[in-house]
Amino acid sequence: MWPDVIDDGPVDRHEHARLDALQRDPYPHYARARRAEGLTFVPELDAWLVARDADVREVLRRPEAFSSANALRPDVLPGPTVLAEMGRGFGGRPVVVTSDGAMHQRLRAPIVHGLSPARVAAIVPYVAERATALIDAFVERGSADLMAEFALQLPGQVIGRLIGLDPADVPLAVHGGHRAEQLLFRPMPEADQLAAARDVVAMQHLLDTYVRERHARPQDDLCSALIGALAPGGESPMVELTLDERHEMVAHLQNFLLAGHLTTSALIGTTLLHLMHHPTQWELLCEKPELIPGAVEEAARYDSPIQGFRRITTRPVVLSGTELPTGAVVFVAYGSANRDPSRHERPDVFDITRPPARHLAFGYGVHGCPGSTLAREQLRITLELLTSRLPGVRLAEERPVVMRPTMIHRSPEELPLVW
Ligand code: HEM
Repeated sequence: MWPDVIDDGPVDRHEHARLDALQRDPYPHYARARRAEGLTFVPELDAWLVARDADVREVLRRPEAFSSANALRPDVLPGPTVLAEMGRGFGGRPVVVTSDGAMHQRLRAPIVHGLSPARVAAIVPYVAERATALIDAFVERGSADLMAEFALQLPGQVIGRLIGLDPADVPLAVHGGHRAEQLLFRPMPEADQLAAARDVVAMQHLLDTYVRERHARPQDDLCSALIGALAPGGESPMVELTLDERHEMVAHLQNFLLAGHLTTSALIGTTLLHLMHHPTQWELLCEKPELIPGAVEEAARYDSPIQGFRRITTRPVVLSGTELPTGAVVFVAYGSANRDPSRHERPDVFDITRPPARHLAFGYGVHGCPGSTLAREQLRITLELLTSRLPGVRLAEERPVVMRPTMIHRSPEELPLVW
């Protein structure tokens, strides 16, 4: 599961404390970098911070100069015992988000097809059914942790359905996704890393079972479609998949699974958090549900789940007046571009009534998010149900809301609500 390009060793404990602080509140760093001349090198990110909207767009428009090979570079490198455990799993191959050029197009095509408007429309009733069932489970209680009981549940169930997982297998797959994120991005004692690695390996073996099963008996699901399109012998169930093909297919499925659920869970959490912090806007939304699509866009702009991804230069480049040599690492901050005053009026104000503006929460260009419609639909349905069923909802006061330290799935740790 480890990306091919790892250009550095793990960062030490003090650096992690600083990175933690930056991750929980990156906005002051962004504001400084947007005001500075040229690009700012940020040691915590170990990268040049690309903070202005125009510069972010320029990087995303030039994938031949800014490679995605390091997009998922881990912040933590595990020790030999943990690596040995990971060796029992599957994956460790380039995936759509870390590939460039022709290889990227080849990997992306079946995903775009699998997330076509028709496919998303077909899964919307399932989204509504699952969202309703999750709310039914806590509505009478008068309180809930919206993260644990809703936001962390719905997207996993939806992506599991899209891939073709049996609902009984979804919890193991989703749990494995969270553990993979922890392993790559959170410092932990070795025993905890090992436990996380075991969970990731269990998820990978589960996905491998599906790969072999769907290769032998294809069905109308994304797992079968990916195998048919990407494994060289994939279209013929008579030819057994090689071990290498199984590794590749598990890597793709794992990437798709994580891309689909962790992000959407995060956006459900931050959307509700900011609506609760702005009760008059919540009341307005309850009165005027036609504002829901605008509220989703505003939440994605205001506190983007994916704050940014890295890129690495393939040649000497001048960006915003800063000369970057070949191999320079940049952090392309969608979250900062979305707060750029030259693009958005009053960018630090959360306002669900603002006129539509093109934000970068779902990226842009060749790697732009193919799952954005599905994510928006899940948010729309969530807000329609919560505004109609729990209009009196508000933040529980006894516990302050703490943001998770992450640049890729920004969300509250917990979201205790009462009504
Ligand atoms: C709120 C939810 C989501 C957010 C904020 C989000 C954001 C993003 C962003 C910013 C990128 C661009 C990455 C880059 O520039 O390197 C991206 C790519 C991607 N997203 Fe999403 N995403 C979300 C939901 C989803 C869902 C639901 C799926 C799948 C069902 C998905 C699948 C992907 C995939 C496969 C890529 C890689 C595309 C490529 O490299 O060509 N995302 N997403």
